Amino acid sequence: MTDSLAQNYNAVGAAVMEMIYAPDFLSVGGGVSTKTLAALGQVASTSVLDVGSGLGGAAFYLAEHAGCSVTGIDLLPANVAEATRRASERGLSAHVNFTCANATALPYKDASFDVVWGQDAWCHVNDKATLIAEASRVLRVGGKIVFSDWLTGNPPDASNEDVRRVTASPHMGNADLYRTLLAEQGFDGIQYVDGHDDFVRRYHTVLKQLQALEDRMCAEFGRKVFDIVCEKHAMICRGFESRSLVFGSFVARLS
Ligand SMILES: C[S@@+](CC[C@H](N)C(=O)[O-])C[C@H]1O[C@@H](n2cnc3c(N)ncnc32)[C@H](O)[C@@H]1O
Repeated sequence: MTDSLAQNYNAVGAAVMEMIYAPDFLSVGGGVSTKTLAALGQVASTSVLDVGSGLGGAAFYLAEHAGCSVTGIDLLPANVAEATRRASERGLSAHVNFTCANATALPYKDASFDVVWGQDAWCHVNDKATLIAEASRVLRVGGKIVFSDWLTGNPPDASNEDVRRVTASPHMGNADLYRTLLAEQGFDGIQYVDGHDDFVRRYHTVLKQLQALEDRMCAEFGRKVFDIVCEKHAMICRGFESRSLVFGSFVARLS
């Protein structure tokens, strides 16, 4: 585990993200983004492996609204413990479970799941080739990979580099890399949906939400933390506005 990842999602970092994104989510758009991705991948009544499950928001949504049974894995023990606690609190323990594991070494047998899901988490994984190979290995033939991610645009520039540093995503992929890796690992019907404009709109909402929460955040975390959070999110938003970072989703089927 990298120090920067643990720092990004420490107790304060996670609490701030939930405040400005959505409860149970460490990603922009929360349940709205889950719903959009589930519709794109036609994910319903199936067994799902959520890779990079965070606090469990997507797993809860897929279990409660799409009839799925969901296993979530996350590298950070604190996220796994918190997601497990929340699942129990919601009475969902029979339908969702969480385990501490690395996306590049999944602790599951071959052909264990019908869907491998990722919501804005794979940008953190440096070894994309092994990530996609592992997703392919644990999927049943005919199963689907469904994920959204932060991607480098074209050409990457300095703002992109800063964002990758402050978000613990030094090796963000791009759409062409994912297309190539998916094809190499036996996926076909590879569909890429550019969700960039919607994402930028959502990010502007995040920035507004941040300003609206100034008093509460300063009281809870202090002015210094608030200022750092504002600076970081303004930088991220500029990176997306310039398209040196882009947002997109993939759906593909294992043949
Ligand atoms: C941006 S958060 C998204 C969490 C969740 N998908 C959501 O939408 O709220 C990224 C998550 O991926 C996890 N993560 C990062 N690298 C990972 C890896 N190599 N293996 C498993 N999880 C990882 C982080 O700990 C974090 O919880």
